[in-house]
Amino acid sequence: MEVKVLKSEEINNEVSNRIINLVNSNKNAILGLATGSTPVGVYKKLAEAYKEGKVSFKTIRSFNLDEYIGLTEDNDQSYRYFMNHNLFDHIDIDKNNTKVPCGLGDVEKNAKDYDAAIDAAGGIDFQILGIGSDGHIAFNEPGTSFNEGTHIAELTDQTITDNARFFAKKEDVPTKAITMGLASIMKAKEIVLIAVGANKAEAVKELINGKMSEDWPCTILQKHNNVTIYADEAAYSKVTK
Ligand code: PGA
Repeated sequence: MEVKVLKSEEINNEVSNRIINLVNSNKNAILGLATGSTPVGVYKKLAEAYKEGKVSFKTIRSFNLDEYIGLTEDNDQSYRYFMNHNLFDHIDIDKNNTKVPCGLGDVEKNAKDYDAAIDAAGGIDFQILGIGSDGHIAFNEPGTSFNEGTHIAELTDQTITDNARFFAKKEDVPTKAITMGLASIMKAKEIVLIAVGANKAEAVKELINGKMSEDWPCTILQKHNNVTIYADEAAYSKVTK
């Protein structure tokens, strides 16, 4: 696991450049994308690079990590809406080639089909991840089996509280999501996790210093052979050297 401690702006530059280099060298690249505050700066840089003619996403495919259960695509709290608004509407990607798990209808079947679709596409080349203050990645909350594929997850009270800032009130936050599992995420060829801010410090400490344990889902990344952790000083502040 490589660890880089940088300022947030430097992290956004470095991660977006890695994605641009990948996309420019592999027209068939498959990106694993995330939502939340963390990747927004990276997506802005990608949109800028596209505008400046430095990259095209025309033939690129993507799979998102997760989606709330019960929200339609045009609901401005859905992760499909988030992705369109923060990235896809600003680049030349074909939206038919962008997949977000579907939290409507037969969600169990959607979950099974999602892993099959990723495998059929050839697997994710580059996965971008945020991290929850409780150490979750995607919506894999503490206690989730390391062996799970895409599945339906109950959000913890901590995550609901953390995400309430995006909603009018805490009661509006959905309590369930469809999420790629830890086993699905571990299949990605290359993983980049970004952690910014003091509220991520405990999780980053466990990720880097802790024992691998399902109590801290992020620690599964310790056994992946191509992971870079990008943290700012605040998120890195509890790590012991
Ligand atoms: P955030 O969420 O990017 O909004 O901090 C990260 C996460 O919960 O994985």
